[in-house]
Amino acid sequence: MQFSLGEDFALQLDAEDPLAAFKQRFHHISGVIYMDGNSLGLMSRDSESTLRRVIDEWRTLGIGGWGNAEIPWITYAESLGAMEAPLVGAEPDEVVVCGGTTINMHTLIATFYDPRGARRKILADELNFPSDLYALTAQIRLRGGDPDEDLELVKSRDGNLIEEDDIMEAMTDEVALALLPSVYYRSGQLLDMALLTERAHEKEITIGFDCSHSVGVVPHRFDDWGVDFAFWCNYKYINGGPGATGSIYVNKRHFGKMPGLAGWFGNDRATMFNMETEFDPAKTAAAWQIGTTTMLSTAPLEGAIRVISEAGIETIREKSLKITAYLMFLVDELLADPPYNFSVCTPRDSERRGGHVGVVHEDAWRVNEALKAHGVVPDFRPPNIIRLAPVPLYVSYMDVWDVAQHLKAVIDDREHEKFSKDRGVVT
Ligand SMILES: Cc1ncc(COP(=O)(O)O)c(C=O)c1O
Repeated sequence: MQFSLGEDFALQLDAEDPLAAFKQRFHHISGVIYMDGNSLGLMSRDSESTLRRVIDEWRTLGIGGWGNAEIPWITYAESLGAMEAPLVGAEPDEVVVCGGTTINMHTLIATFYDPRGARRKILADELNFPSDLYALTAQIRLRGGDPDEDLELVKSRDGNLIEEDDIMEAMTDEVALALLPSVYYRSGQLLDMALLTERAHEKEITIGFDCSHSVGVVPHRFDDWGVDFAFWCNYKYINGGPGATGSIYVNKRHFGKMPGLAGWFGNDRATMFNMETEFDPAKTAAAWQIGTTTMLSTAPLEGAIRVISEAGIETIREKSLKITAYLMFLVDELLADPPYNFSVCTPRDSERRGGHVGVVHEDAWRVNEALKAHGVVPDFRPPNIIRLAPVPLYVSYMDVWDVAQHLKAVIDDREHEKFSKDRGVVT
């Protein structure tokens, strides 16, 4: 696609954007260009309305909501899982909405990490999100292992990207489980999940993915790829709200496996209230629930998933690739040379790119602060990356053009130099 630098070109892209009308479905913060949906997505009117409905159900039905709400709360986790399943290429009963990202990761690792004989290692990589590495370390210890021995971290060649070839080379017959991200939280690199799953299975390795940075912006085909399990957060591109309930995918060939962290909400609903001493797990991914559905953190997801399903995940991906390419074009053409000195660490190849762009600058922290003072909401990740997420549902091409002009103005006027180099609390 050929881009050009003018403002009129951005307006033309917006005029041709099939998703342009979705911007109005979201609440916007006055005077702000929101580029941080890779951290916390904006609230849609649809999410607000499903949350309000559940609050009303609580007010009017009390405990009766578990059985008599519009979508009964007792199987709300399964109902929303079924709604979300098409976004990840799964059958309705392979996805359940429950717990939180790290908690779900723990139960899945506890289920699928089965160290035996010489096959004791977990394969991950050094650029994965810290919580994943902490959970893996803890799970190895719980099994009596030594993380120094049993956690194999693939190294990055350049500090930003991980090569699939390096991951596959590390898939030895000492590896029991591989846990990898779909999209890297800093660089925005998208891994080839199909290829990695195929190779892992050739080597008899169980494989799961943390898809927090891809679900809602990248289509997935978990069933076609044969992925064993996956989990993701719903507060980024799904727009389910701060700390929204997470999601679990378990491939149906694993149905019937005993969940690592069993709890009564994973029990078959037919026998749950018999209150037996023995756990009778659901026959589907629902078995991986642990405790009571956190209705108020889950209800916004209902509206949020509807918006995404209505827009269509393939259309979202199409715009995401175009708008991230446009952003990278503007950085290259407008901001690469001195005195700007910005560069992009995100892969250019659309097969290898998720929904955000990592923009590198030697003074990234202060530039990020100056951008915020301009009314742009980006975020900073150490050591030198400004993440910008042009979320297809609510960011326009004109917004992206404006962000590039703000970045230019910050450097032209040396505004970043007014900010302290000390980093406060980073979110
Ligand atoms: C890739 C990834 N994994 C895991 C987490 C941790 O999620 P939670 O705090 O919901 O457990 C995050 C949080 O942003 C993340 O980006």
